[in-house]
Amino acid sequence: MVNIAVMGHGVVGSGVAEILLSHADSISKKAKKQINIKHILDLRDFDGLSYSDKFTKDFRKIADDDEVLVVAEVMGGINPAYDYVKECLLKGKSVVTSNKELVATKGAELLKIAQDNNVNFLFEASVGGGIPVLRPMAQCMAANEMTEIFGILNGTTNFILTKMVKENLSFETALKMAQDLGYAERNPDADVLGHDACRKICILASLGFGKHVYPEQVKATGITEITLEDVDYADKLGYVIKLIGHCAKLSSDKIAASVYPALVPRDNMLSGVNDVYNAVVVKGDATDDVMFYGKGAGKLPTASAVVADIIDCVKHLQTRKYLFWEDGCKDYVEAQENVPTRLYVRLSKTDNSVVSQIKALFGDETAILNNTVANEIVFITAKQVEKELTNKIQKLQNCKVEAILHAID
Ligand code: HSE
Repeated sequence: MVNIAVMGHGVVGSGVAEILLSHADSISKKAKKQINIKHILDLRDFDGLSYSDKFTKDFRKIADDDEVLVVAEVMGGINPAYDYVKECLLKGKSVVTSNKELVATKGAELLKIAQDNNVNFLFEASVGGGIPVLRPMAQCMAANEMTEIFGILNGTTNFILTKMVKENLSFETALKMAQDLGYAERNPDADVLGHDACRKICILASLGFGKHVYPEQVKATGITEITLEDVDYADKLGYVIKLIGHCAKLSSDKIAASVYPALVPRDNMLSGVNDVYNAVVVKGDATDDVMFYGKGAGKLPTASAVVADIIDCVKHLQTRKYLFWEDGCKDYVEAQENVPTRLYVRLSKTDNSVVSQIKALFGDETAILNNTVANEIVFITAKQVEKELTNKIQKLQNCKVEAILHAID
């Protein structure tokens, strides 16, 4: 039997306990050992559960218990999660976590501590909820050099955008629905402002390219400015709007990484990823595109990934799983304005010279939609370095810029 502890009994933590208890027999067969939850750390009281006797409010009960070999951290946030995880690793306990903020901010340091102490630090649940993506990237795609990783990384915003696109609901109404269904984080800012997707693209880029990418190095734009007008124009042009996390290798010592709402063509597979589902496309130099798809948020999908990591740790108590990246460095991530992209631009116009100005600046082939009723014009540029595109947009006269979004192929 292997004793474990679970730190946090919120949405994910209660799902971890539920799966470990309800699937105990099949899990012990897969782990080749019985897994016993010895302690659950939470400051709240949980009376009336079949496992209420396991709760403690004192982290020392876990840290100082030499019988606890694996700890699942599902509290979220940096404090006190970082101190707790670090101490557990230093004391020779393997740690699994769903905490993307912790991994995106402190991943390189915690991986190094795990390595030095010959224990495992696994975090499959931190990206894509229930989708297996980090382990397949690190193990099944180990033969590849990764060149690009992108996708829909946040379930809440994908749910909101799906409701806006398919049911014409406003951003506010769709957000309320996401909160009522328990998808949105306690503070929806992390989701709707793009911070959550930013942390996930940092983890994917760090693992994919081998060097830590910190959230403050990545420009992240959320979906709060997306309007039903833009959803409608995108539809008329053959696109849907999705929040995309993207990173790509630019050279041996430079990558691009960003998060932005983007127009996705209807014939791109990401356009069909709806509701709380996520999809991650990993481009390896041998495999080309590999796509991972599934539920990116929610209690049981996320708990499924945490429990799988617990099983992996239990099976590898004496062996380190290969999962590692080195510390990051300044200037590793190229400024977004220097990265080639396509832009969708919506203008309100005062006269019809704007169409010829757009053609002169952006080329005759530019996709233009002229809405004479609303006196607005939208167009999508060809791919060019972003600051060159924004310089051209500034040259447009007799019009006002209402919205600029990215567009992908
Ligand atoms: N709030 C996150 C999401 C949870 O909506 O994707 C999973 O990381």
